[in-house]
Amino acid sequence: MTAYCSNALFAPALSLAVYIWHQHLIPDTGYVFIMPETTGPAYLRFPGAPPAGTPLCRLDALPESGARGFLFGEDVNRFDMFVVWRGGKLHAYVNDCPHAHTPLDYLPDRFFNLEKSHLLCGTHGALFRIQDGHCISGPCKGRSLTPVPVHLENDIICIG
Ligand code: FES
Repeated sequence: MTAYCSNALFAPALSLAVYIWHQHLIPDTGYVFIMPETTGPAYLRFPGAPPAGTPLCRLDALPESGARGFLFGEDVNRFDMFVVWRGGKLHAYVNDCPHAHTPLDYLPDRFFNLEKSHLLCGTHGALFRIQDGHCISGPCKGRSLTPVPVHLENDIICIG
């Protein structure tokens, strides 16, 4: 008897698994899922990720030491990210906590702890460094948010 794995069956099954994972239906088990290889920045493996050059907003629409969320698409192609303007620098991340893959903000655009010193996941209280998205406390300590590259173009914040 010959066993074989057909790509015609495997590819849809893998797509379904990735979809379920992105819909936050699988609780964090500690297992590492090996995602299909993509080229470029890690945020591009998220469905609906906008391409480099996509404009987000004017810089003055971000308060100093503030943050703002951005949503693209919907359903399976919904992409959720946020940008932080702190100390004259921009930082941007996919709005996806590495613990249980929920958004960080418990209310729209509320991404900080009370002291505004760290990014806070409102689901279980993980704290992340603003400058690199590294988790320093909480259930996903040692893991990191997925960065989204951003830059300024004539005072417009753009992806890439
Ligand atoms: S989902 Fe549990 S700390 Fe973020």
